[in-house]
Amino acid sequence: MSTAPSLPPARTPGRYRIAVVCLGNICRSPMADVVLNARVADAGLDDRVEVVSAGTGDWHVGQPMDRRAAALLTSEGYDASRHRAQQVLAAWLDEHDLVLAMDAQNLADLRDLGPGSAGGDADPARVRALRDFDPEGTGDVPDPYYGGDAGFREVLAMVERTAEAIVAGLDRVVDA
Ligand code: 4NP
Repeated sequence: MSTAPSLPPARTPGRYRIAVVCLGNICRSPMADVVLNARVADAGLDDRVEVVSAGTGDWHVGQPMDRRAAALLTSEGYDASRHRAQQVLAAWLDEHDLVLAMDAQNLADLRDLGPGSAGGDADPARVRALRDFDPEGTGDVPDPYYGGDAGFREVLAMVERTAEAIVAGLDRVVDA
């Protein structure tokens, strides 16, 4: 049994805002968004914790989730129907308590969004790799877009165990 991770404190006590970010916002971050929202609801925190997702790119804005991601989530009992892709805004770096990048490129792109030479407003304690909180490993959540179903299942396993760990740490920080 792993211990709950240490999360950055709420900017506004009683409310915690999490954003998950990938490249296209049709595969990885929508899966993490749906799974995190489900775990937050299971924990009875949905009145205080908000989870949203976005892509660093704009190619898929307005589109639903990739059909392979949606089919897998649906088969596992999640609601994948409400997702519509959006592009991350620089303002999110200031508005969210935790901004979670799916891979190192997404993280670098997020840090470059802030004003200043190296993304001056991207607080490294709040703008993090999702797998910083994975109890079983670190590194990238691999992009499944050009691969097969196994890639989507791997992403789901990573986001499920990581979401569980994050939600276990939320109680301690949401009112901090
Ligand atoms: P995601 O996957 O970043 O996990 O949503 C991708 C979706 C679309 C593209 C690349 C990755 N694309 O190149 O269109």
